[in-house]
Amino acid sequence: VLAIRNIGELVVVPPGPVGGRLMRDVSAVRSATLLIDGGRIVWFGLDNELTVPPDCETLDAQCGCVLPGLIDCHTHTVFAGTREHEFTQRIEGKSYAEIAESGGGIRVTVEAVRAASREQLVELALPRLQRMLRRGVTTVEIKSGYGLTVEDEIKMLEVIQRLNTLQPIELVATYLAAHTTPRECAARPDAYLDLVLDDAVLTRIRDEKLAEFCDVFCERTAFNVEQSRRVLATAKRFGLTPRLHADQITQSGASMLAAEVGAVSADHLETIDDAGIAALKAAGCVAVLLPGCSFFLGVEQAPARRILDADLPVALATDYNPGSAMIESLPLVMHIACTQMRMTPTEAIVAATANAAAALEREGRLGAIQTGMQADLIILDVPNHQRWLYEPGRNCVRTVVKKGRIVAEYGTADGSAI
Ligand code: NIG
Ligand code: FE
Repeated sequence: VLAIRNIGELVVVPPGPVGGRLMRDVSAVRSATLLIDGGRIVWFGLDNELTVPPDCETLDAQCGCVLPGLIDCHTHTVFAGTREHEFTQRIEGKSYAEIAESGGGIRVTVEAVRAASREQLVELALPRLQRMLRRGVTTVEIKSGYGLTVEDEIKMLEVIQRLNTLQPIELVATYLAAHTTPRECAARPDAYLDLVLDDAVLTRIRDEKLAEFCDVFCERTAFNVEQSRRVLATAKRFGLTPRLHADQITQSGASMLAAEVGAVSADHLETIDDAGIAALKAAGCVAVLLPGCSFFLGVEQAPARRILDADLPVALATDYNPGSAMIESLPLVMHIACTQMRMTPTEAIVAATANAAAALEREGRLGAIQTGMQADLIILDVPNHQRWLYEPGRNCVRTVVKKGRIVAEYGTADGSAI
C-alpha cells in the first residue's frame, strides 16, 4: 500500500465522458491523502480522516496539487525527419494546404519514414516519450500514416508496439494508412485504398493486435467523405474502432460522417458548423480539439465554447507531428486551450484526462480520481491546478505515478527546466 499524503489540492476528476456543461464543475479536496493498492486507487479523502493501513509506504506531496495522469489521445509521435523549412514558408505567407498541394507536407515525412529502419524509428521516438512523461503524460495514442505502403504502415505499427514495452507510458495504436495518397498513387486514391484495406492486411493488424483504432484524414488534400466512409466501414468489420481528422481546413461534412459511422471521436473541428456539432452530440462522439495545431499554424481555433455549450464531451490533445504541430507538451496545449479558446483550467484538465480516456475507450480504467481506477497520477510543485496552467513556460510536474509506481521524479531545480 502506498499513501500519497500532504496533498495541497486533489482534483477529483470524474470518469469520462463528461459533457461540456459539466466540465467546469469538478470538486477538489484540500489537505488530502490518496491510498494506492495493487496499482489502483483504493481510498482518498481528508488527510486527518485517514486510518493508516499496516505496511504502508508514504509519499509526501509537499502540499502540491495531485490529479490524474494526462492522456494525449491524438499524436503522430513516430516520425523521422523535420520540416522547419515549411515553418518558414508559412511565416512568409504560404498556407499548410498550399504547401501540401505543392508536394510538401506529409509526403516529405513519408520519404524519411520509409528510409528509416524500425530501430531508427524507435530510437527517435523514445526520447520524445520520455519528455512527454516528464510533463505528466501517462498514456499516449500514436498513429501510423507516414509509411503509406502496406509494409511501411505495418512497420510503424510494429514500432509503436515495441515502444510500448520499452518505457512506462501506455501506448494506443491507430491505423492511419488513409493519411494522404502517396506520390506513386497520386492519381489513383481508390487503388491505394484497395491496397491498405486489403482483407489480409486488416486481418493481420487485428490478429497481431497492431492497432485498436482506424483513422482517416477527411480533407480536400487527402480523402473525401465517400472514400473516408469506405475506409472506416471496412476497418470496422475487422474490429478497428473508427475516429477521424474532421473539418480541419475545409468543411466537407466529415463530422456528419463521424456520427454516421459511430466514430468514438472526431478530431480537429476548426471549421465545424452547428449541424456538425448537433450530429456529433446525437451520436455520442467525443470532440477532440487540438489547439496546439492552430497555434502552430497561426490560424483560427476551433469554436470550443460553442462545442462545450452544446454539451459535447471535449478532449484536448497535442496532435504532435512534424508538420502542423511540433509540440510535445500537453500542458502547453492545455494552456493554449485556456488563453486562445477560452476553456477554463478545470475544463482543460477534464479534457486531457477523463474525456481523453473516453476518446481512447479507456474511461472505465483511466483518467479519473475514483476508487477502483488505475493509479496513474501526477504531483505538481504548485498548490492548485490554476497555478499550473497559469505558468506555461515551466514544467511544474514533480512526480509521475503509473499503475501505482513512481516512474519519474524531479527536484525543483531539475523539474523547472522545460
Ligand atoms: O493532424 N491533419 C493531418 N495530419 C496531421 C498533420 C500531419 C503532417 O503535416 O505531417 C494533423 O495536423
Ligand atoms: Fe493529426
